[in-house]
Amino acid sequence: MREAWKSIREELLRRSVEGEEFISISDDSMSRINSALSSMPKGEDSVPGEPLTGNKRIPPQDDVKEIEFASEINISLDSPSDAMRRKKVLINGNSDFKIAPIPSPTPFTLPDGDKISRWNALRDIVLGDPVCKEHLKPGKKVVFGVGNLDAKIFFCGEAPGADEEIQGEPFVGRAGQLLTKIISAMGIARGDVYIGNIMNWRPELPTSRGNRPPTEEEMAYCLPYLKAQIEIVNPQVVVALGMTAVNGLLGVDPSRRMGKVRGKWASFEGRDLMITYHPSFLLQYGSKTTKRLVWEDMMLVMERTGIPVSEKQRSFFL
Ligand code: URA
Repeated sequence: MREAWKSIREELLRRSVEGEEFISISDDSMSRINSALSSMPKGEDSVPGEPLTGNKRIPPQDDVKEIEFASEINISLDSPSDAMRRKKVLINGNSDFKIAPIPSPTPFTLPDGDKISRWNALRDIVLGDPVCKEHLKPGKKVVFGVGNLDAKIFFCGEAPGADEEIQGEPFVGRAGQLLTKIISAMGIARGDVYIGNIMNWRPELPTSRGNRPPTEEEMAYCLPYLKAQIEIVNPQVVVALGMTAVNGLLGVDPSRRMGKVRGKWASFEGRDLMITYHPSFLLQYGSKTTKRLVWEDMMLVMERTGIPVSEKQRSFFL
């Protein structure tokens, strides 16, 4: 029963992250949930022991902040996107903190030559870009992509976080460690792929803690730098990690839902694009089901890029 409840909770969280705010539950299902809940022990993974009735508010749990049951059951979860939306409002309404205006992308040209000299030239341009540098807190670094310039797979994340802006390298924090594990599970090494981000700087916040998604203008400023890296590396497949990466690459579309677009081949500038969940999402809501979804996406990438998938790999997270 506990497993069943955990699955329901995870599915609700996943759907909430994808933007769904309400679900409908029939009276019959509601009464079954109630009788299941009343027989469950209280504990870390349990739900409140009190049975639910219409208009019942359940006390907040750790990541499920509020579940409100109204006449037609509305389940409202505090998903990262909700939290981010609230934070955005707060930032925008906070007179002490303004996101600096972003100019149009700075035009640049790369020298002719081999991949390494073009990549080095691009790296110098990005690391020296005054707009990128202007957004850094003292002592922090502009972050440029890393990896194999002949990689078949180009992972594209969102933006540097606290660890990345210290080290000046993408995906070196907890999410990065998970990404590295995913890459190893594919039977390849981190050094076999290329890893970049939509953003070259960490979107600023009034505090040094937390992250916020980049604005459209911020993403538009950095996009030419990402595109140039993709052009130099010339990968067979780009993997967009999370919705911000998708928005950065394909343009913001508020009606886009992760559950609908992930696991399907899309296209970015004529290249195969696989969309999957961001490793941070897995760190927060890493149910076996969600891990399996990401893994299925990675198996598609492996197949498309000619990486053999063993029987053992096929059964991961089943
Ligand atoms: N998340 C990202 O999207 N990129 C990073 O570099 C680190 C965390």
